[in-house]
Amino acid sequence: NELGLVAVGFSGGQCKPGVDAAPMALIESGLVDQLKDDLEYNIHYDGQVHAYGDLICEDDPDYRNMKKPKTVSAVTERLSSQIYEHAKEGRFVLTLGGDHSIAVGTISGTAKAIRERLGREMAVIWVDAHADINTPETSDSGNIHGMPVAFLTGLASDKPGMPFGWLKDDQKISTKKLVYIGLRDVDRGEKKILRENGIKAFSMHDVDRYGIGKVMDMALGWIGRDTPIHLSFDIDALDPMWAPSTGTAVRGGLTLREGDFIAECVHETGSLVALDLVEVNPRLEQHGAAETVRAGVSIVRCALGDTLL
Ligand code: ARG
Ligand code: MN
Ligand code: MN
Ligand code: MN
Repeated sequence: NELGLVAVGFSGGQCKPGVDAAPMALIESGLVDQLKDDLEYNIHYDGQVHAYGDLICEDDPDYRNMKKPKTVSAVTERLSSQIYEHAKEGRFVLTLGGDHSIAVGTISGTAKAIRERLGREMAVIWVDAHADINTPETSDSGNIHGMPVAFLTGLASDKPGMPFGWLKDDQKISTKKLVYIGLRDVDRGEKKILRENGIKAFSMHDVDRYGIGKVMDMALGWIGRDTPIHLSFDIDALDPMWAPSTGTAVRGGLTLREGDFIAECVHETGSLVALDLVEVNPRLEQHGAAETVRAGVSIVRCALGDTLL
């Protein structure tokens, strides 16, 4: 049970400071010790929360409507190789974010390693209130944490030498192997992208209609057996009742148990190769921060094999 842990204290994909404090908050609440002692992982961790200070660009004007393009590009490119180094050794890769822009780095890193090691195309399960599939042109906010899926699938791209020009084909994923769960705040342009590309998405409406058990059967059925899975879990998928301390909270979300259940089901496949936990912002809510961190710890434990019995 080899596990690579990368702590990413990066908040540049959106405008609210504080998500950078999440990895430390999660670790201080005992997450790493629990993975070691209770779940018996052998953890490869460099012992630091990466802030990528050397990559933060002071002079970083908007480009194609993107905010801080150079900084986010440089950080995700560096992160991508950190993740790749773990994944190519066959380790499970756990990334503690950070805002969701960092998924450009994590998913590109695992996608490349899985291709090389297993000759397989990896699937992604994206659990989120949001689709994060805006192109720079469809985005209203210009915040890159709302765009990672567009770059990872090639629906958006940059020329070599331009911000996300570093992303190569072997680091990308197919829209056919992408599944969303928990959506409830999808921008107009994103709905069009989901529809036109036939992307599989289970919104909160589907969770209400079928129940989370059936939704997971359908989601995993779509991906197919034995396909390596990268789970990218945005804590705002959970209802603000369970995870209030996040930058773009949306009411009407998953219960804590539904979130844990998703993580448990993905673990049970035996095909999970990586997990991102993102958008926990312990600085936003005075009282809700601890609750949100606790929810994050719970999701990670479930995805890594903790069981109720
Ligand atoms: N759709 C909005 C945007 O593009 C919100 C994105 C929120 N993303 C997130 N990772 N929390 O700005
Ligand atoms: Mn979100
Ligand atoms: Mn919106
Ligand atoms: Mn997100």
